[in-house]
Amino acid sequence: MSRNFVKSMLAMTMIVAMLALAACGGAATTPAATTGDATAAPAASGGPQVGIVLPTKDEPRWLQDEARFRDLLGTAGVPVEILFSQGNSATEKTNVESLLSKGVKVIILTPQDGAAAAAAATAARQAGAKVISYDRLILGTDAVDYYVTFDSNAVGAAQAQYLVDKATGTGNPLYLYAGAASDNNAFLFFEGAWSVLQPKIADGTFVIKNSSEAQALQDKAELTRDEMAKIIGQITTNWDFNTAKGLAEANLTVATAGDKGNVFILAPNDGTARAIADVFAVDPDVTSYVVTGQDAEKASVQYIIDGKQSMTVLKDTRTLAQDAITAALAFLAGNTPEQTTTYNNQTIDVPAKPSEVIAVDKDNVKAAIIDSGYWPASDFTGLQ
Ligand code: BGC
Repeated sequence: MSRNFVKSMLAMTMIVAMLALAACGGAATTPAATTGDATAAPAASGGPQVGIVLPTKDEPRWLQDEARFRDLLGTAGVPVEILFSQGNSATEKTNVESLLSKGVKVIILTPQDGAAAAAAATAARQAGAKVISYDRLILGTDAVDYYVTFDSNAVGAAQAQYLVDKATGTGNPLYLYAGAASDNNAFLFFEGAWSVLQPKIADGTFVIKNSSEAQALQDKAELTRDEMAKIIGQITTNWDFNTAKGLAEANLTVATAGDKGNVFILAPNDGTARAIADVFAVDPDVTSYVVTGQDAEKASVQYIIDGKQSMTVLKDTRTLAQDAITAALAFLAGNTPEQTTTYNNQTIDVPAKPSEVIAVDKDNVKAAIIDSGYWPASDFTGLQ
């Protein structure tokens, strides 16, 4: 048994015990609200203390987080409820309100749309609950108490570095794709990628093929948010497989044979990477492609083993779920979670302790994904 495994088992046992304690101590004694506001009602005995609201089941990433939360909390007696917003900010707000009405003291929220989620966060703050932004930052409000996240800038930088490491010579065709503009992470990923790619565009290693906005800004080492928004507006996948596929098809339709050959593709995450890779793979003028991703989704791990996706970035959702629960417990106990940095959400600097990420390709897929226990070997074929 590895030391890390023992460490994380110990941490989980502690978390479960602390949550059980918090449940006994808090719920039954909360005084009844006098406002008549349903969102301020006391917790029913044994009701959830922590509410988790995730953006959608349609983007596979969030099913990973749900499963990791359930692994951590699955033990009987842990008062947590998990809801999905199905890509809709109104549903997200209703979810938050419903959890508040059950008396949760901490809301862990991954916004569908960072700016729109300010209203839900404010409702939580007004009901006296702490708000933890989970993976995606809630924007434009002071009603965010903590941000649990990976180092998203490092994700983009790792993707870009992979492309740089695989490129030789000059004039390599570069196709850029991004996440949803409503997701602050899309900006952080792109910013991290641009910091590594821009010098390699400036020195002629890469030539951007699918974004006139990016071409217009290619001499700028650092972009403003507005400048990034212009580029993202042109290359967004909206985190959606079909949008990604359609955009890649449209790009390859207008590109000439000379714009193809051995191509390099910045794809923002695994789902969109597979959709985009499938399009490039069938174009007769594409000789080879290198394509990035992130999330270590099972389907993409298989694509990497099969040589259909070049890399992914492992963001260990076990760590993130655990960090969120640890922060929630700190708040329930009246303490402040550990902070190493802050992220500005356009209103305040939100305290955070970002987690590291790991670049994964064919060479380290077994060590990083299987041997670490992230996914079992039995879920894949052709592993060496
Ligand atoms: C997450 C990614 C995910 C994407 C689409 C981002 O906010 O950080 O891990 O792939 O959303 O769901």
